[in-house]
Amino acid sequence: MTPSLFDKIQETKEYIQSKYATTPSVGVVLGSGLGDLASKITIECELSYKDIPNFPISTVEGHAGKLIFGQLGGKATVLMSGRFHYYEGYDMQQVTFPIRVMRALGVEHLFVSNAAGGMNKNYKVGDIVIIRDHINLFPEHPLRGKNDERLGVRFPDMSEPYNLNTIALAEKIAKEQQLPVQTGVYIGLQGPTFETRAEYKWLHIIGGDLVGMSTVPEVIVAIHSGMKVFGASIVTDLGIRDEMNTITHEEVLQAANEAAPKLANLVEGIVASL
Ligand code: HPA
Repeated sequence: MTPSLFDKIQETKEYIQSKYATTPSVGVVLGSGLGDLASKITIECELSYKDIPNFPISTVEGHAGKLIFGQLGGKATVLMSGRFHYYEGYDMQQVTFPIRVMRALGVEHLFVSNAAGGMNKNYKVGDIVIIRDHINLFPEHPLRGKNDERLGVRFPDMSEPYNLNTIALAEKIAKEQQLPVQTGVYIGLQGPTFETRAEYKWLHIIGGDLVGMSTVPEVIVAIHSGMKVFGASIVTDLGIRDEMNTITHEEVLQAANEAAPKLANLVEGIVASL
């Protein structure tokens, strides 16, 4: 009999706990070019994805593919360096498996970051945007299938996917750090194409300020499993294509890298104040 998702999570958790005994209360998913947080954590243990049972292997350039354990802002933290994208061919269970494992390890607060295209007219490239809500346009739902009540309820409430207390804390800390931040609604879709002019326009009309190819599946599973979520995007390009603007992966990475230290400071500040 093939092991259930629950059994796989347990097996992975036990492996990790055999290598590192501390219970993390904070989990962070590092998005494109946002590796700067890795330099803020006092590293106590690193595990390569390839050595962790049941973990998929990361393939995208610029993603290291390891779990990093240590202290961030005085909290025991697990950092996921390298995430799994649906467009790479992973199914939704693989994309979200590490989130399940983080929860099983004891994580209560999940921080997710990403690079995103901006559609809100007030955004500039390099802006840091606190995600206050999302729209799920992925073609497959991470909770589709038989529900295991040990992992969460069949029909999760999604009225507060991004924890309002953490958002308020983030805004306060951003002010203290004199860091301008925006807030916005993130639309997640599968990619891997960037959007056409008509698509950016439509995504804005239906209520999106930001668009990207990640985050939403992980947040859904985090909510299902009972975590409090904080999400932030770095605006890496503007989907306003009135002129002949093209978007490249290189410019996305460059913009993300430039803003990354600021976002890392902000997240560290929030974690320290939790
Ligand atoms: N669209 C989708 N995903 C993205 C974008 C975008 O404009 N920028 C960074 N990730």
